[in-house]
Amino acid sequence: MNKIGIDKINFFTPHLALNMKELAEARKEDPDKYLIGLGQEIMAVIPNTQDTISMAANAADKIINEDNRDKIKLIIFATESGVDNSKSAGVYIQRLLNLPPDIRVIELKEACYAATAGIQLAKDYLSNHSEEQVLLIASDIARYGLNTPGETTQGGGSVAMILKENPQIATISEETKYVSQDLMDFWRPLYSDIAYADGHYSTKVYLEFFKYLWKEFCKEYNENINDFKAMIFHLPFTKLGLKALRLALPTDNDDKKEQLLNDFECARLWNKQIGNLYTGSVYLSLISLLANSSDLHSNDAIGIYSYGSGAEGEFYKINLANNFKQDNFKAIKKMIDNRTIISVDEYEKIFNSTVTTEKNIQLDIDKDPAKFVFAGIKNEQRQYTKH
Ligand code: HMG
Repeated sequence: MNKIGIDKINFFTPHLALNMKELAEARKEDPDKYLIGLGQEIMAVIPNTQDTISMAANAADKIINEDNRDKIKLIIFATESGVDNSKSAGVYIQRLLNLPPDIRVIELKEACYAATAGIQLAKDYLSNHSEEQVLLIASDIARYGLNTPGETTQGGGSVAMILKENPQIATISEETKYVSQDLMDFWRPLYSDIAYADGHYSTKVYLEFFKYLWKEFCKEYNENINDFKAMIFHLPFTKLGLKALRLALPTDNDDKKEQLLNDFECARLWNKQIGNLYTGSVYLSLISLLANSSDLHSNDAIGIYSYGSGAEGEFYKINLANNFKQDNFKAIKKMIDNRTIISVDEYEKIFNSTVTTEKNIQLDIDKDPAKFVFAGIKNEQRQYTKH
């Protein structure tokens, strides 16, 4: 059987951001708590003219072209901050990106784990539909509320991928271990636009799931840390990934330990500047690793730890393909570096202006430079515009 995996990948985040140092000062905390204790430097701020759908369109637009447009037969939209309890966000994407009508579209939800579920489902689907391609989008806004303990771990953005046979970036290995358990570490009731979290408990479960999966994976496939070039993690805040990595680092090989730690720094670089983006988080970390590490080679194995509250975890392996350094990574860096840094006052105003229960509203889209924007609600129907 031919190899299946990630052929293209792109990331989008809006044009506004907040310095964590300034947030710390406003909240009367030592900035080092946020910068070092949590490992976060800048947080993406989502204007009310962006939502999970417009961000997804902005991310996916760049990886769809005349070569793959007609081959995409399945859109998987992974999100936990979707805008409709019935309609899949992916159907809007089909129209906004001019994808053909003979296409299946579904939305997946299991907190931050859903994109990984999407990857495994796409892999199995493509093994039976080898001429086709899958568009997978992970799109979320992490929102806990002003002055809450979770405020420091907000953010948002979308990762879009094309999966296919003989991919350019990475192939998905058959080796995987997963686990689910019904528990309440983080949840968002239907009536709430902010997430609730039992924060410290959630970090404990995240680490326990990783410890368990890593042990079971190594046992089942007779592998160890030396078989991996890099390890990437779901990064609600980047220090948590470092804590997980430390559980797997070799104790008898200082060079390997240093190499893994160096690659982890590359993998968390862009997550430090975005914050949590829920289900896309671990895949932003993958992009960050591929873009910023200089010691990766084709066929290198990367371990991926995906965690979604509620809770579900999976540890699996990918192998880099021949063209894993993609040209669009430079544009992603530019987008992250060129954001406008706003004050805490402006961030609070934007936070409070988010559209939640309005039935009719027209938004000021002129200030939003993104190609696709959320223009408002007309007769309870969301409106999207292309600049
Ligand atoms: P907190 O109580 O504000 O922070 O909550 P803290 O007191 O635990 O301190 C954080 C760290 O900063 C600690 O490091 C402190 O020691 C350190 P640690 O000891 O744990 O290594 N610190 C300092 N370091 C340097 N200089 C200083 C200083 N002061 C303190 N001066 C918490 C933090 C993450 C709990 C909170 O922000 C929260 O509730 N966040 C939301 C929940 C969350 O992100 N959970 C993560 C695991 S669950 C998950 O990943 C799933 C999720 O993405 C959702 C989904 O699946 O959909 C959330």
